[in-house]
Amino acid sequence: MAVKDSSRLRIGMIGAGGVAARHAQVLTGFPDARVVAIGDLDAARATALADTCGAKAYADPGKMLDDEKPDAVYICVPPFAHGLPELACVSRGIPFFVEKPLSVELAVAEQIEAAVRDAGLITATGYHWRYSDIVTEAAQILAEHCPRVVIGSWLDKVPPVPWWVQRDRSGGQVVEQLTHVLDLLRALVGEVQSVQASSSRAPRPEHPDSDIDDVTVATLQMVEGALGTLTASSLLRHKHRAGLEIIADGLALDLTETELRISTNTSPVTRFPGNDPKFDVDRAFVDAVSGRGDDVRAPYAEALQTHRLGLAIAESAATGRPVSLTPGRQPDPTQR
Ligand SMILES: NC(=O)c1ccc[n+]([C@@H]2O[C@H](COP(=O)([O-])OP(=O)(O)OC[C@H]3O[C@@H](n4cnc5c(N)ncnc54)[C@H](O)[C@@H]3O)[C@@H](O)[C@H]2O)c1
Repeated sequence: MAVKDSSRLRIGMIGAGGVAARHAQVLTGFPDARVVAIGDLDAARATALADTCGAKAYADPGKMLDDEKPDAVYICVPPFAHGLPELACVSRGIPFFVEKPLSVELAVAEQIEAAVRDAGLITATGYHWRYSDIVTEAAQILAEHCPRVVIGSWLDKVPPVPWWVQRDRSGGQVVEQLTHVLDLLRALVGEVQSVQASSSRAPRPEHPDSDIDDVTVATLQMVEGALGTLTASSLLRHKHRAGLEIIADGLALDLTETELRISTNTSPVTRFPGNDPKFDVDRAFVDAVSGRGDDVRAPYAEALQTHRLGLAIAESAATGRPVSLTPGRQPDPTQR
């Protein structure tokens, strides 16, 4: 499809790290979009990414928005840096895609959600697993089988970003990483009613600055009656597993980002994704902003529900008390 430059969606990016580079690569492959500007407080990072996609670099994201007036913005900052970038987009009426997790503090995400709702803005979030065709297939199977038990896990290494091991910067592993599994759980099995979690940590010489738990376990009660367990650990030197098992009467589904195993007897059937969800999540956002589609599967308000679940697990682990997620419940402000 040949598209005139002037009719291509002009995209700005705030944050120029690892995930921004991934989105920029996908977006520059779209014939109907182009990345025009990159804003990062670290000017060298902004320039390095801008150079890969013919964009202009800014060390001041607000100036980028004012000078470039992009049609849409990708917000790819670490968890602690949310708030100002989103509200800067809302006040200028610019639709945005924001990476998970939405924030460290619940109040920040709630303020953004209210502002987005008032402005009627198109938003999307980085919960790309929802676009995988094996997730769609799992949902179709579950429409015929009532889930009774769920087992979610994320057993991995510490990612190579400095902010990840600091609780006030990342929110910890459940909020930052397990959140993809929590979102999958909500998408496939429904809402969680209550959680009870425990966590622990031990000094790790290779991460002297770490103050996050390196093991968290939780039990869940789902609104529809299913029970569940979750386990997260960053103790490994490799990614061992990240996924969700769902058990119904006579059926076990084992879902990861790379495969779906369907077992009704001792000979499971394995399916592999036939699409690239990391491509499709960007395609859906660009189509929505361009008025050509309506397939944003996790807009901001939806992602906020997943974020509330992650924060509830973290709160329960911190207090040792069960946390209810029933509507209207006010979270414990001392644990935000
Ligand atoms: N959906 C996914 O699969 C996926 C994958 C990787 C990362 N992520 C998420 O993306 C986010 C960023 O991760 P990353 O790996 O790119 O981190 P990173 O540390 O590599 O990059 C973050 C960048 O943001 C910049 N920054 C910080 N505060 C800023 C601000 N206020 N304004 C502008 N720029 C600012 C930093 O200078 C840095 O360049 C994290 O929340 C992470 O969880 C999502």
